[in-house]
Amino acid sequence: KAFFPLHARPPDNNVPNKLSDDPFCRKRGRLKTKIKEQPTMSLFRPQLWTIPTTGEAERRRLPKLTATLETRLKHIARRYPQAVFASSLAVEDMIVTDAICRLKLPLRIITLDTGKLNPETAALITAVNVRYQTELEVFHPDPESARQFEQEFGATAMYDSVELRRRCCHIRKIEPLNRALKNAPAWLTGQRRSQSATRSELNFEETDHSRNIAKFNPIFDWEENDVWAYAQAYDVPLNALYFQGYPSIGCEPCTRPVKADEDIRAGRWWWESKDSKE
Ligand code: ADX
Ligand code: SF4
Repeated sequence: KAFFPLHARPPDNNVPNKLSDDPFCRKRGRLKTKIKEQPTMSLFRPQLWTIPTTGEAERRRLPKLTATLETRLKHIARRYPQAVFASSLAVEDMIVTDAICRLKLPLRIITLDTGKLNPETAALITAVNVRYQTELEVFHPDPESARQFEQEFGATAMYDSVELRRRCCHIRKIEPLNRALKNAPAWLTGQRRSQSATRSELNFEETDHSRNIAKFNPIFDWEENDVWAYAQAYDVPLNALYFQGYPSIGCEPCTRPVKADEDIRAGRWWWESKDSKE
């Protein structure tokens, strides 16, 4: 495969880590030639994205933003006590979870364990349960569909075409989400307008036309810095990958760290063109 996360090493890569590990180099004593052949990229460590440092401006904005978030959530819970919050365990979703739990709202909180999550992400499910004395509802893909897909197309099919990537997402995310939202009168996400161009039109309340139910985005108008200011102020549990250059986290094969100057969603399905991504 041509594409690998920055932190991963291609399986067919037989370039040694150190020159002294290279038997060819030691046996023939061709150190000079070997140095020339080493790809220069292996010596280059890019500056990765780091969690933004927040300042006075965000701290000043936070009380009003938090109060508005709480009003929004109470409003949703009054209208739709059985509404479902779908949490990917991203920092945005941790904020919504934190507010729902602090306010002891009756809303259900679900998460989709796609079977392809990083261990750091999967570990958060327990951390959230412990911290908020709750039990997230975890939905899994249909095992037979997941098995059949991998048997037919292979474990790395998502890199082969957009169509196969979408089929994988359908089996591991969409179908389990549909099951989680069955009979739900409304659902909530942690999506924000400034996450990407395709989200710039998001509103607090929308209609999910494919499911014909209400959909709420209670932090649709928050900026990235506001999110991190809340995370710090309320000390929410965080995915360890945020400390390793990942500003946006999905499944393990489809997410990689990004460089400091890249778009915050550049590490999601990074091998695809922008048009095929959400
Ligand atoms: S994605 O389309 O690129 O995967 P993103 O990761 O930004 O979506 O998450 C957007 C919203 O979709 C989240 O706030 C959450 O509501 C929902 N979502 C995404 N992944 C999951 C998941 N694994 N479990 C539950 N909800 C999810
Ligand atoms: Fe499959 Fe990747 Fe989609 Fe996860 S994000 S469901 S691994 S294609």
